[in-house]
Amino acid sequence: MVASGLAGPECLVDSLTTPIVQTATYTFKNTEELIAYQEGRFGSYEYGRYGNPTARACEEKIRALERAEDCLVSSSGMNAATTMLLALVPAGGHLVTTTDCYRRTRQFIATVLPKMGISATVIDPSDLAGLERALASRPTALFFSESPTNPYLRCIDIPKVKALCAAHGAVVAVDSTFATPINQRALELGADLVLHSATKYLSGHNDVLAGALAGRADLVAAVRAMHNVLGGVIDPHAAYLLLRGMKTLDLRVSRANASALLLARRLQEHPKIARVHYPGLESHPDHAIAARQMDGFGGVVSFELAGDLWATARFIDACRLPYIAPSLGGVESLIEQPTIVSYWDQGPEERACIGIRDSLVRFSVGVEAAEDIWADLNQALEAADARQ
Ligand SMILES: *Cc1c(COP(=O)(O)O)cnc(C)c1O
Ligand SMILES: *[C@@H]1O[C@H](CO)[C@@H](O)[C@H](O)[C@H]1NC(C)=O
Repeated sequence: MVASGLAGPECLVDSLTTPIVQTATYTFKNTEELIAYQEGRFGSYEYGRYGNPTARACEEKIRALERAEDCLVSSSGMNAATTMLLALVPAGGHLVTTTDCYRRTRQFIATVLPKMGISATVIDPSDLAGLERALASRPTALFFSESPTNPYLRCIDIPKVKALCAAHGAVVAVDSTFATPINQRALELGADLVLHSATKYLSGHNDVLAGALAGRADLVAAVRAMHNVLGGVIDPHAAYLLLRGMKTLDLRVSRANASALLLARRLQEHPKIARVHYPGLESHPDHAIAARQMDGFGGVVSFELAGDLWATARFIDACRLPYIAPSLGGVESLIEQPTIVSYWDQGPEERACIGIRDSLVRFSVGVEAAEDIWADLNQALEAADARQ
């Protein structure tokens, strides 16, 4: 680029990548321009909590991927979920959610929302009769569920849920983190809002935290107004990393789909594996729903060893390829035992009550060669056995 001598944002238009606009506030030439901005005649930004061009580029991209009317990105998936709940459920209101959801989301619904008199009915992801009863019992502002869920990858029937909720005026919000917009377009299936922990597949490199909410413009606007107050903004550099990650989203997700399905099928045949939870397997309780509403089944495979908590821990310790870590959806394979990573503070009875089995393993398939991953899982299953 020939040096143009421009000092303002004009000099950035030839940049192939989206610039990181590292600013807390935005300037106006004069009062007239500021008034024009306030009246919507001059497009700009005002203050960093209300918007940022790098973050806006993320919003535009996710909006396009989800075929949404609008999108809001924020500092984390939890921030997107909590801001949405605070914005869309009125004080004293009611919402319906499902079991087997992200633990912190459930914690927020169970411990923070009641301070505003908000109550929740928790149903099994497949319990449409329970949903109908809950909707009929009292006015319901919102239905909120993951699909697929964590860690058992249960899927909700989005069109059926939408039909029931629409009849009662309840907004349908789906946390589609595990599916990504590559494998599932929740909005096209009927959801009003789709939520992502962009920390996972959207950014995809285990190096940034971010959240996104996309869908109906009026709902996103209501959540954005709450977000402007609460202030869980994404940092411009994090927004850049999210944009960069999304360039390879389709490549990474396609690879993860293929590898995860292969691994799930082989694990299912392995004598040391008691059970595999993967929506792409015919044995999964929600396989028919997943086959109808997803293109691929994602990169997370959960499975149970034929052994106790410690046999499972020995297997995990014998793995050499995946890192032992929470999180998912990045290029590096990650392995974890939910009992130890997420539920260690709860006793065996509480874990049993919420269905977290001690021999459960959650595997987030990275972009490594599938045969390398399979060879490693195999040697670890052998090694764990030998050391018993
Ligand atoms: C990780 C995760 C969240 C929370 O997102 P953060 O970015 O970690 O705040 C919410 N929902 C699902 C399904 C997740 O996997
Ligand atoms: C993964 O997702 C893509 C969508 O990009 C889909 O077309 C493909 O069939 C999926 N692959 C597998 C193996 O499931």
